[in-house]
Amino acid sequence: MSKNILVLAATGNVGSQLVHQLQAAGHSVRAGTRNPATAELPADVQVVRTELSRPETLIDCLDDIDAAFLLWPLHTGAQLPKALGIIAGCARRVVFLGTDGIPDLSFEEQENLVHGCGIESVVIRPSTFAVNTLWWADQIRTGDIVHGSHGELPMSLIHEADMAAVAALALTENGHAGATYTVTGPEVLTRAEQVRIIGEVLGRQLRWAELTREHAEQRLLADESFPDSFIDVLLDGYDTMMAAPRPQTTSTVADLTGRPAHSLAEWVSDHRADFR
Ligand SMILES: NC(=O)c1ccc[n+]([C@@H]2O[C@H](COP(=O)([O-])OP(=O)(O)OC[C@H]3O[C@@H](n4cnc5c(N)ncnc54)[C@H](OP(=O)(O)O)[C@@H]3O)[C@@H](O)[C@H]2O)c1
Repeated sequence: MSKNILVLAATGNVGSQLVHQLQAAGHSVRAGTRNPATAELPADVQVVRTELSRPETLIDCLDDIDAAFLLWPLHTGAQLPKALGIIAGCARRVVFLGTDGIPDLSFEEQENLVHGCGIESVVIRPSTFAVNTLWWADQIRTGDIVHGSHGELPMSLIHEADMAAVAALALTENGHAGATYTVTGPEVLTRAEQVRIIGEVLGRQLRWAELTREHAEQRLLADESFPDSFIDVLLDGYDTMMAAPRPQTTSTVADLTGRPAHSLAEWVSDHRADFR
C-alpha cells in the first residue's frame, strides 16, 4: 500500500537515493532541505524547509506522514531528542541512519534515543560510505598517485543505494520495528586496495603513496573542499579503526533486499563521471 514518507536530509547522498527509490515504488514523498529554492529534487516531490538544529521546523512538515527518515548531520546531538519527540508526536514510524560522527552522542546513545522515542523505530548502522573515496577525486583527475595516510586501514565501503534500499523497506514494510540493522558492503578493503580498484574500473593504474598523519593533515588543510573542523575527527577515527579488530561484513543488505550489496567496483562504475 502506498505510504506518505518524510525524507529529511533529502538532498544528500542517501536521502536523494531514498527519494528516488520510494517514488519508484509508488510512495508519496515529502523532502526536507534547508534550501528548497536551490534543492535539486524531482518535480513531483513536495519540498519543505527543515533546519535540524531548530527541530521546531519539523512540526509543519509532518501532517499526514506515516513514516520519517532521519539522519543527524550536525556536530552536536543536543537537539536530537527534541527532533525525535516532534516526529513521534505525528508519525507512526521513524527510520534513523546512525553515525559514529557526533562527538557528544555515541552511536549507542543515538540508538537508545531512537528506540525509546515511543513509536515504531528502526536504526541503520552503516559502514564507511563508498562516496568518501571522492575525497581522492582531485588527485585522480590530475595524476596516477593518490597520497594519503592509513593506507593499510581495512574497511567495508557501502553504496548509498544499498543504505537507501534498506531504509525504504524499513519505512514502508511491516516487521522491522525495534530492529538495528548493521549494513556494510560485500568486501573489506584497505584504502590502498580501494585506490587500485578505482583505477581498474577507470582503466588506469593508480598507486597509493603513504603519508604520515602530519602530512595528511597538511594536505587536507590545503584542500578547500574539505572542512577543517572534520580533519581531526576523521584522522582520529582512522587511528581508532587501525587499533580495532578487522571489520566484518554483514549480509543485511542481501537478507533484506534479496540481492547482494554493491561492490566498490560497482560503485565506481556508477560514479565514473565524478572522477573525470
Ligand atoms: N561518510 C561516512 O562514511 C558516514 C558513515 C556513517 C554515517 N555517516 C553519516 O551520514 C550522514 C550524511 O549522510 P549523507 O552522506 O547522505 O549526507 P550528505 O551528502 O553529506 O549531505 C548532508 C545532508 O544533510 C542535510 N543537512 C545538513 N545540515 C543540515 C541541517 N542543519 N538541517 C537540515 N538538514 C541538514 C543536507 O541538506 P541541505 O543542505 O539540502 O539542507 C544534506 O541533505 C551524517 O549524519 C554522517 O555522520 C557518514
